[in-house]
Amino acid sequence: MTQDGFRAEGIDTSRPHPARIYDYLLGGKDNYEVDQQAGDELAAKAPEVWISVQANRAFMRRAVQYVVGSGVRQILDVGTGLPTSPNVHEIAHEAAPDVRVAYIDNDPIVKAHADALLSRSGATSIVLGDLRDPRAIVDHPDVRQVIDFDEPVALLLVAILHFLTDAEKPEEVVATLRDALPAGSFLVLSHATGDFFDRSEAQAVYNNATATMNLRSRAEVERFFDGFELVKPGLAQVPFWRPDTPPPARSDEIGFYGGVARRTG
Ligand SMILES: C[S@@+](CC[C@H](N)C(=O)[O-])C[C@H]1O[C@@H](n2cnc3c(N)ncnc32)[C@H](O)[C@@H]1O
Repeated sequence: MTQDGFRAEGIDTSRPHPARIYDYLLGGKDNYEVDQQAGDELAAKAPEVWISVQANRAFMRRAVQYVVGSGVRQILDVGTGLPTSPNVHEIAHEAAPDVRVAYIDNDPIVKAHADALLSRSGATSIVLGDLRDPRAIVDHPDVRQVIDFDEPVALLLVAILHFLTDAEKPEEVVATLRDALPAGSFLVLSHATGDFFDRSEAQAVYNNATATMNLRSRAEVERFFDGFELVKPGLAQVPFWRPDTPPPARSDEIGFYGGVARRTG
């Protein structure tokens, strides 16, 4: 058990980890040989993955700017990943220095790196927690210290839900988190898909990783927004969600859907 009461698996460098594969694809340094091999294998099966991860990150940036611009001052970022500049709190603070951010991830390496990065000001926290136990996230004292669930919250589920299998009931997981959010809150979500190319071989690269990849169709991803109202343009391939520069070449090949939605009641 860690001090968070979470049973950490320990830091396993013998199997690829989603956070470290993603870090490698983004050009980061916090990854091991197994992660680099998995990333290269993924890119061999799905060459668009290099631009996809960048486009997903850019979507997250625009979506955070959007929700902060809409007045939200609290962000709950589940599946935050290894710190990658600009991080969510940096993007938010550029627009509004009073935004509070609670970061959650189930990878002990992510927590260790984030601990080293974050100040102890009380405006940000990093908690080891698992999306598959959403109630524990909402009830966690370190989350409650930063997030007041009586005020609007932006819930970020960016490039994480595809690590949950259907058997892990991702729709119920999202519904539990949604029900903890007051009206005026937002859901920011992105999700990998095989709608544009058959990506079953790329999906299989994760079979040996610490979490599997579960590609979903547009209709399946849209269901995660039940109880929310999608803001324009609705669910889109991430480069086409409110772009602030012309979408890069081959953006129509990117296998990530993204959307932002408001909690209506
Ligand atoms: C692909 S990264 C996405 C990082 C960031 N949200 C972004 O989009 O740039 C996915 C992150 O989700 C985390 N993750 C995967 N399954 C999880 C789970 N069940 N609970 C909490 N975190 C999880 C991984 O450790 C990883 O850091």
